[in-house]
Amino acid sequence: MTQPTDASTSNVTGWRASAEAIAKAQAIFPTVNFEEANVPPYTLEAVLPAGLTRDQWPAHREAIVERFRDGSFGCGLSKPQSLAFDLIETDPAALDSKATLKRVRITSGHHGKTHAFEMVLYVPNDARKPAPAFLLINIKDPSHFDASRTPQPDVWRAERLIGRGFALASFQRTDLAIDKPDAWRSGAARLFDDESNAARPDDAFGALAVWAWGASRVMDYLETDASIDQSQVVVVGHSRGGKTALWAGATDTRFAIAISNNSGCGGASLNCRNIGETPLRLSRQFPHWMNANYRRSAEAGAMPFEQHLLLASISPRAVYVCSAADDLWADPKGEYESWAAASPAFELFGDPPVASPDVPPVNTPLIVGRRGYHIRTGAHEMGEYDWDRFADFAAAQFGIAR
Ligand code: GCU
Repeated sequence: MTQPTDASTSNVTGWRASAEAIAKAQAIFPTVNFEEANVPPYTLEAVLPAGLTRDQWPAHREAIVERFRDGSFGCGLSKPQSLAFDLIETDPAALDSKATLKRVRITSGHHGKTHAFEMVLYVPNDARKPAPAFLLINIKDPSHFDASRTPQPDVWRAERLIGRGFALASFQRTDLAIDKPDAWRSGAARLFDDESNAARPDDAFGALAVWAWGASRVMDYLETDASIDQSQVVVVGHSRGGKTALWAGATDTRFAIAISNNSGCGGASLNCRNIGETPLRLSRQFPHWMNANYRRSAEAGAMPFEQHLLLASISPRAVYVCSAADDLWADPKGEYESWAAASPAFELFGDPPVASPDVPPVNTPLIVGRRGYHIRTGAHEMGEYDWDRFADFAAAQFGIAR
């Protein structure tokens, strides 16, 4: 593995959590640190060894992804030996005839076992085809699949996206792996791992990797659908879905853009800042999300890498990170700093550096080449403001008027 030869030190200043937000978070989590003054000094590993060339980037990128596979999301998943796509329903008049809805069952076969889950796809009727598409890793209840329901769920602004010419796909991550430490292995994980096997390797995959694997299977389907531009598929998720979207973007280079909304610990934000959720808290509360190596490093208080490397690994494709000003559990400043520190991987491909170490003002998106960031007013959620910015970003990256 290529070892970094240089290092950069944090000097992010600027945006600060409001006293009110800190007091509120502190009241909910009395033993958790939310004060910047208590952040220990730290140095971030350099993203690139000095002199690394563009040609050398793919191997270096792969080495970064491998570190996250080994120490965080886990190994052992692959494309299944067989895949079948069954169209269960088509409705050409969905969303007041603005879109065509397809419900597709995706069946994976591997080593004599099968797993099936459903995805939905809304394709705009009156827009250019093949259409660019968003793929949402849905972490809310399945009723969110019904894009025609009123009022439309905040987390999925289907009508707005369809109105701007984007297709929208989604799947229910719990159809891949139930979100419980004692039940997550009963789903797609069975294809790769015997559920009764208690002695799993320390690097064996966790539930987040299974959800990301599901996103890749949806991408397998999208590649076969002539109404979708397979070079313009954006994977997006909120919170635990945001961590998953980043991992899907890191591991599956078919995704042109990865978007993490309020993904926090294990996603966009730095591990070392000890603000809000820490790897230790995450691994104790959600031991099934990451692998055993992650849990061991978290218990030891020594994570082997920082999350800016995960964002960097998406280069030369595009990445967007969104924070929320009152979502201190996810450490907005740590998310921005991580995003900014990933910069050299994008500068390598001609992007300008991130000019300011300061978190930008709220509701003011910052776009630097292939990277976008915003911090929105409000809480831990994903809503209209976020979706509109994601659509702006995707349209600009794809060079399309939307
Ligand atoms: C918890 C968890 C976070 C996660 C969030 C969510 O708060 O600690 O890591 O992002 O749930 O998925 O909503």
